[in-house]
Amino acid sequence: MKILLLGPNGQVGWELQRSLSPLGELIALDRHSTAADGGCGDLSQPDQLRQTVLALRPDVIVNAAAHTAVDKAESEPELARTLNAQAPGVLAAAAQSIDALLVHYSTDYVFDGSGTTPWVEDAATGPLSVYGRTKLDGERAIQASGCRHLILRTSWVYAARGGNFARTMLRLAVERERLTVIDDQWGAPTGADLIADVTAHAIRQTLRAPQLSGIFHLAAAGETTWNGYARFVLETARMVKPDLVLKAQEVAPVPTSAFPTPAQRPLNSRLDTSRLRSTFHLALPHWQTGVRRMLTEIL
Ligand SMILES: NC(=O)c1ccc[n+]([C@@H]2O[C@H](COP(=O)([O-])OP(=O)(O)OC[C@H]3O[C@@H](n4cnc5c(N)ncnc54)[C@H](OP(=O)(O)O)[C@@H]3O)[C@@H](O)[C@H]2O)c1
Repeated sequence: MKILLLGPNGQVGWELQRSLSPLGELIALDRHSTAADGGCGDLSQPDQLRQTVLALRPDVIVNAAAHTAVDKAESEPELARTLNAQAPGVLAAAAQSIDALLVHYSTDYVFDGSGTTPWVEDAATGPLSVYGRTKLDGERAIQASGCRHLILRTSWVYAARGGNFARTMLRLAVERERLTVIDDQWGAPTGADLIADVTAHAIRQTLRAPQLSGIFHLAAAGETTWNGYARFVLETARMVKPDLVLKAQEVAPVPTSAFPTPAQRPLNSRLDTSRLRSTFHLALPHWQTGVRRMLTEIL
């Protein structure tokens, strides 16, 4: 089996390089890849992207690349649209013409964040930002193409590699006695490693049963706020590394309005993952399990 992976250096893409490699021949192309690497992996070049897919003829295309800078997207909507909506549409049309499976990631930001109920896949969408709107249009382009697809909507992604929310909280906790962290946005921190492992599992099952095509919500179990997440990070860090000197004694709760940003974020990012768990016979671990593991790794 041949798998084409786009965006291999992002949080999820990096973990996919690990989790997909046992499935077959993995061709990973990033935005700088050339013909010598196997083709074009630049989402801003849709024509070259299409030619690459048609030339490589992979059995599976996994697109982990996207315009993920949520605030920056507000001031560069055209680029966000090209990367998040147009490129997935081009990939989907190419996948359809060679009968490949397209795996793509989307986001809780397609919802308006109202209420407290976890969102099911068919709930009405209502994106609040350019990022959310363009990601939703990417989903629709894939669905309209008629290609076999798995669209995995996830939320609050972190990885051990590179910068992340936990590292930022730890740095601030070393410097300051009091942190202020938003406590009115709810969701579940979800590890890129979990997303990648579930992706590999879902691909294997989907190739055996092509009717499994569709949108699925993929997030760790449980729920918290950014404030609860920050408190858990500090408590766990103190346990995992007792000699770490954290000055912070208080993680004060503040509303989203305390930190104005160009893009509006949904308050309710809870995702109902029942469909994914029952379709693919999977269990999703509690968010604290993954965050504890990531902290143990980075501390
Ligand atoms: N992060 C979250 O909290 C979150 C939440 C919900 C859903 N998602 C979705 O999950 C997926 C993976 O997200 P992530 O957190 O792994 O994102 P990430 O770490 O920001 O990685 C995104 C990747 O896209 C690549 N990219 C950007 N512009 C490109 C272009 N023109 N051509 C090719 N590649 C380009 C980046 O390449 P460089 O390395 O060269 O910059 C980077 O490797 C995305 O679809 C995202 O929308 C993320």
